[in-house]
Amino acid sequence: MGKQALIFMIYLGALIYLMQICIATDEQSLLAIKAHITDPNNILATNWSQGTSFCTWIGVTCSRRHPRVTALNLFNMSLEGTVAKEIGNLSFLTYLNIRNNSFSGAIPIEIGNLRRLRVLQMSFNQLGGELPATIFNISSLVIIDVVYNDISGFIPENICSQSTKLGRLGLYRNRIYGEIPSVLTRCRMLENLSLSFNQLTGNIPSEIGNLSSLQYAAFSRNHFFSGIIPDEIGNMSSLISLALAKNELMGMIPPTIGQLRNLQRFGIEDNKLWGSIPYSFCNLENLYYASLEGNAFSGQLPRCMGNLVSLRELYMAKNAFSFNIPSTLWSFERILAINLSHNFFDGSIPLDIGNLESVVVLDLSGNQFSGEIPIVVGQLQSINALVLSNNKLHGRIPESFDNLKSLQYLDLSHNNLSGEIPKSLEKLSDLVYFNVSFNELSGEIPDGGSFRNFTGDFFRSNNGLCGASRFNVEVCKMNNRKSSNKSRLLRYILPPVAAIAFAATISIMYLRYRSRKSLLLPKSNSHFDIIRHRMSYYELLRATNNLDEANLVGRGSIGSVYKGILDNGMIVVKVFNLDVQGALKSFDTECQILSSIRHRNLVKVITSCANLDFKALVLEYMPNGNLDKWLYSPDNFLNFTQRLRIMIDVAFAIEYLHEGYSSPIIHCDLKPSNILLDEDMVAHVGDFGISKLLTQDQRIAQTKTLGTIGYMAPEYGSAGLVSTSVDVYSYGILLMETFTRHKPTNEMFLEELTLRSWVFESLPNGLMEIVDVDLLNEDEENFGAKNEMFLKSIIELALECTNDSPEERLNIKDALLRLKKINNELEEMKPKNNLL
Ligand SMILES: *[C@@H]1O[C@H](CO)[C@@H](O)[C@H](O)[C@H]1NC(C)=O
Ligand SMILES: *[C@@H]1O[C@H](CO)[C@@H](O)[C@H](O)[C@H]1NC(C)=O
Ligand SMILES: *[C@@H]1O[C@H](CO)[C@@H](O)[C@H](O)[C@H]1NC(C)=O
Ligand SMILES: *[C@@H]1O[C@H](CO)[C@@H](O)[C@H](O)[C@H]1NC(C)=O
Ligand SMILES: *[C@@H]1O[C@H](CO)[C@@H](O)[C@H](O)[C@H]1NC(C)=O
Ligand SMILES: *[C@@H]1O[C@H](CO)[C@@H](O)[C@H](O)[C@H]1NC(C)=O
Ligand SMILES: *[C@@H]1O[C@H](CO)[C@@H](O)[C@H](O)[C@H]1NC(C)=O
Ligand SMILES: *[C@@H]1O[C@H](CO)[C@@H](O)[C@H](O)[C@H]1NC(C)=O
Ligand SMILES: *[C@@H]1O[C@H](CO)[C@@H](O)[C@H](O)[C@H]1NC(C)=O
Ligand SMILES: *[C@@H]1O[C@H](CO)[C@@H](O)[C@H](O)[C@H]1NC(C)=O
Ligand SMILES: *[C@@H]1O[C@H](CO)[C@@H](O)[C@H](O)[C@H]1NC(C)=O
Ligand SMILES: *[C@@H]1O[C@H](CO)[C@@H](O)[C@H](O)[C@H]1NC(C)=O
Repeated sequence: MGKQALIFMIYLGALIYLMQICIATDEQSLLAIKAHITDPNNILATNWSQGTSFCTWIGVTCSRRHPRVTALNLFNMSLEGTVAKEIGNLSFLTYLNIRNNSFSGAIPIEIGNLRRLRVLQMSFNQLGGELPATIFNISSLVIIDVVYNDISGFIPENICSQSTKLGRLGLYRNRIYGEIPSVLTRCRMLENLSLSFNQLTGNIPSEIGNLSSLQYAAFSRNHFFSGIIPDEIGNMSSLISLALAKNELMGMIPPTIGQLRNLQRFGIEDNKLWGSIPYSFCNLENLYYASLEGNAFSGQLPRCMGNLVSLRELYMAKNAFSFNIPSTLWSFERILAINLSHNFFDGSIPLDIGNLESVVVLDLSGNQFSGEIPIVVGQLQSINALVLSNNKLHGRIPESFDNLKSLQYLDLSHNNLSGEIPKSLEKLSDLVYFNVSFNELSGEIPDGGSFRNFTGDFFRSNNGLCGASRFNVEVCKMNNRKSSNKSRLLRYILPPVAAIAFAATISIMYLRYRSRKSLLLPKSNSHFDIIRHRMSYYELLRATNNLDEANLVGRGSIGSVYKGILDNGMIVVKVFNLDVQGALKSFDTECQILSSIRHRNLVKVITSCANLDFKALVLEYMPNGNLDKWLYSPDNFLNFTQRLRIMIDVAFAIEYLHEGYSSPIIHCDLKPSNILLDEDMVAHVGDFGISKLLTQDQRIAQTKTLGTIGYMAPEYGSAGLVSTSVDVYSYGILLMETFTRHKPTNEMFLEELTLRSWVFESLPNGLMEIVDVDLLNEDEENFGAKNEMFLKSIIELALECTNDSPEERLNIKDALLRLKKINNELEEMKPKNNLL
């Protein structure tokens, strides 16, 4: 009880705090909302111990000096109750997220008053009622996501009448009924439409072809009675994924499907479609996943299917396909799954099957395949599940099955296989399912290895199997096995051969490793000298008072940073934690780079200290800390000009790294905490722990060490590719962050909404909604008129730096030139008597 009372007092205190900082009516409605949605049990469940401000706790972005609430984030907070209609009074709201709580009741129609709303994220709740039509009066909306709720009613007819920017409409898993209104196709910017798991009826409207921006379309699990797939589907040229599964669609696949050159996923399983696969289907060169199972397709598979070079998963079970499988289908070296079960395919299993090196699941059961199982199945190195049951296969079970190290599931039942079960299959240690029932097998059932756990159910109805009693077969009669020759071979000849092969493999791997390594980090050139003068360990301990916690200024993933005092001034000591993987390499890299370069805007290394088990760098002390602190801690503030100058300093530093030497240096980890400020607020770029040196004619390299999420260019994050454009990308993000005071990892950026897209959306007229509100407060009257123009140029520059495609990004030299120009114009406009 005492604890509850204490928490209540904290709650009261927090409310008072909130009222002190935010005093306008906006805040009253916020309180009304709080009163609606909080209940003491939920308050107890929340973490109050962090000492963060109340605004931050409830996810409200409200400035210290300004009472406007622009973002309300209540994601995943175990809240319940209804959404209060006062929400409509938060008129500056651009972002509203209540995802994954237990809100119930209807979405209030007052939501339509939020004229600036861009993101409405209400998924994973128990909201009921109908979708208020007023939502679609909001012209700024980009995302509506209410998936996993209990919303019913029709899709409103005014959809996209005002909300023409709508990019995502998520209605998945609700109880929406009626037809898809053809006016939906007014949503020309729609990229992601998910209507699956609802009760929609009628046809897919032919106007759907007008949704030419749509990339992800999900209509599965509805009740589109008697509908066909309209020809116009071929006009949806941006389509990446089309899901129509588990409906009642009829008719054929329209040949226009072949126009969807971006299509990667195509799921039409469990409908009533018929006919053969159109030849144009083979044009889908990006198709990765195709599921056509559970329909009534027939005929032969087109030979041209071999053109589907991206195909990784092919599901065609439970149709009426017949004839041979064209040989081109066995040429997919990278395919992962093929399921052709329960059709009428015939012919034999071709030797080409051995090409499927990557296949994990192969199911050919329930067809009319005849002939023997080819020995080349032993080449399916990755296979987990192989199902050949219910065919007309005969001959022996090939011994080569024992090569299939990953095999877990093998079903050969209901064939006409004869001979013995190879004893070598015992060594397939992952095998848990091995069904050879209903064949003509004979001989002894192996009893060791993986067979130890098998029961008689796997061996039913064979001709002459014998073995252990748990298999429910006869006991074997002793007979001499003829394998002595073979076992001698195994015992005396194979080991030396294997040893030689092993040694050869190792040396090849080593050579490859070495060549790869030298690609990454070229040998140090003459001008990259290792530091000569090193400080002694004891000097360093003395300077930092034995690395006292009181001197700790920061802790990172690979070590800690202390400040210290030497006879001639303050220093910073960066101590690498050698227990952490990569720390040693990081020390070497940073030593190598920082010791050989000098620039006004780079942090200077004074010296280093390296023993066997202690590595540290001694750096110049930066009394003003880092940019992160200046942006986010409540006691600091940077005005517009200061921010611009800092970013110019950073650009100077990067330009020097990229262009200052014959071989470019890539920083790879630009972010606010790596930008340090000296006593004159001049910026110095630091932390070269994961930097890369490229060789003279190398423009790009690959790495496994990644930078910081949010600041990494796409090609760096996904494929580890580093080039100078990677730094330019981070620099662009940094620019946006500096002027909006929003981190790219801010919780408001989910899924499609990124810092970049948020900033991008704001152009040309919404800049004042994204700019750091503290900048507006600084001199409110003047800002709009003069700085907005400069801000716009900066933001445009930032967008050009963060293009998804590295080739289209600016280079840092041009970025720097443009910033300098902006700065010059800004200086000229300043009243000459005002030196600040
Ligand atoms: C919300 O707005 C309505 C109308 O604009 C007003 O009547 C009401 O008082 C406001 N509520 C609060 C809590 O500010
Ligand atoms: C609450 O916050 C403290 C301090 O940040 C943290 O140590 C603790 O793990 C948090 N507890 C929960 C339940 O999140
Ligand atoms: C949401 O909250 C639950 C506990 O209430 C936690 O287990 C889960 O990790 C959270 N999810 C996210 C994405 O924060
Ligand atoms: C949603 O909330 C529940 C309960 O709080 C939690 O267990 C779950 O992990 C959350 N899911 C996500 C995606 O955060
Ligand atoms: C908002 O939507 C409602 C319902 O569709 C409509 O009656 C009203 O006229 C719209 N208001 C504005 C300002 O567009
Ligand atoms: C599309 O939207 C749904 C829900 O609205 C979401 O779960 C999914 O991740 C989105 N897809 C993409 C590719 O953004
Ligand atoms: C579809 O697009 C065509 C051509 O752009 C246009 O004429 C037609 O009115 C559109 N249909 C709908 C329902 O928007
Ligand atoms: C849309 O598809 C139809 C039928 O396939 C076709 O006749 C028409 O030219 C297409 N329209 C556009 C704008 O591509
Ligand atoms: C192949 O598809 C059928 C029908 O969907 C399914 O029952 C079977 O489990 C699949 N085979 C494998 C190995 O997954
Ligand atoms: C099974 O194979 C045997 C010979 O191995 C043959 O005599 C028999 O006819 C075959 N049965 C079927 C149903 O094909
Ligand atoms: C047999 O099954 C037991 C438990 O189900 C398992 O722990 C053991 O590893 C299995 N043995 C083999 C050889 O698969
Ligand atoms: C093996 O296959 C036969 C025939 O398909 C089936 O009756 C039996 O249940 C299967 N055994 C197991 C253990 O699944």
